[in-house]
Amino acid sequence: MPNDVKLLQILDWDSPRQNALLRDELATGLLQAQAHIAPKFFYDALGSRLFEAITELPEYYPTRTEAAIFRDHLPAIRQALGADFTLIDLGCGSCAKAGKLFHAGILPRRYVAVDISVEFLRDSLQHLKRELPAIDMLGLGLDFTDELQLPDDLPLERRMFFYPGSSIGNFSPPDAGRFLQGLAARMDHSGGLLIGVDLVKDKALLDAAYDDPLGVTAAFNRNLLRHVNARLDANFAVGDWRHVAFYDIDSARIEMHLEARRALTVRWPDAKGSRSRSFADGERVHTENSWKYSPDGFATLLTGAGFTDIQVWTDPPRWFALFFARKAA
Ligand code: AVJ
Repeated sequence: MPNDVKLLQILDWDSPRQNALLRDELATGLLQAQAHIAPKFFYDALGSRLFEAITELPEYYPTRTEAAIFRDHLPAIRQALGADFTLIDLGCGSCAKAGKLFHAGILPRRYVAVDISVEFLRDSLQHLKRELPAIDMLGLGLDFTDELQLPDDLPLERRMFFYPGSSIGNFSPPDAGRFLQGLAARMDHSGGLLIGVDLVKDKALLDAAYDDPLGVTAAFNRNLLRHVNARLDANFAVGDWRHVAFYDIDSARIEMHLEARRALTVRWPDAKGSRSRSFADGERVHTENSWKYSPDGFATLLTGAGFTDIQVWTDPPRWFALFFARKAA
C-alpha cells in the first residue's frame, strides 16, 4: 500500500547527459567574476530537512504566516479551487501545506507533487499517501526552474497550480513573470493558480528571518557546498565559508552569499582535466535572491502573465500574501 504512490524521476544525476549539463551549470557559475550557485542546489536530502527546520524558527515568519492566512480564509480558498481539480504542487517539500488543505477537507481529484529533491519527495509523498489513501497521487522529481515537464496524460481540465511559500521570490521579477506565463500556458480556462508571496516589510524583520541566531539558515546555506562537493567532486571546505544574508531595500530582495574566511582555491575535475577557482579573503559566492513584493506589484505581475479574477488574502500586519487567479480569456 505505501508503495502505490507513483513517482517519475525526470531529473536524474545518474543520466550522463543530464549530469554533464548540471555539472556544467555549476562550473560555469563558479567561474564567473561574481561566482554564483543557483538556489535549486540547496535541496539535497539534508538541504530539504534543513529548510524544514528553518520553517520552525521563530524568526522565519513566512511559513507560519502563510499557514495562518490559509486557516483564516479556508471557505474562500475552497470556493476558489472548486471541486474535481488536479492540484499541482510546485516544490512540495514535505507536502505539509497540501496535507493541511486535504485535512481541512479541500480535496483534489488528483495530487501531483513536484520537487527537485527526489528522495525527500518520495518519503514525503509516501507519508501523505498513507494518511490520505483515497487521493490519486503522483510524484514528479524534476527541476521546474528549467522546464516544468508534466506528463502527457495529465488531464488539462481544472489544473490548479499550487506554489506556496514564496519560492516565486527566487526568480527576478521579469523571470517570475515569464515563469507565471509558462504556468498559464499549461492550463486551460478552467485552471487557476494559488500562490504565496512574501511582502516588503521592515528590514530588521527580514534580516532576522534570513540570519537566525541559532545558525540554521547558515547551515542551510553552507550545506550547499557539501551538495556541490558531492555532485561536482569539488573540494569546498565548509568551515572556510561564512553565511552572509541581508535585505537590500533598493532591490527589494534578500541576498544570501557564502563568504570566504581566507584566500583559498577550490578544485574539481572535468572532461578536459581539472578546473579551479581562487577566492580572495572576503570574496563571496552568491547563493540566493529572495524578492519581496507589494500586493499591487504582484497583482500587476499576475495580470501581465495572463491571469485574471485576482483574489488576495493577507495577514493583518500584511507580512505575507496568498493570491488566487484564473487564466485570462
Ligand atoms: C524556499 C525560496 C521560499 O526565500 O524564504 C529560507 C528559502 N532561504 N531561508 C525563502 C530560504 C533562506 C525560501 N524559499
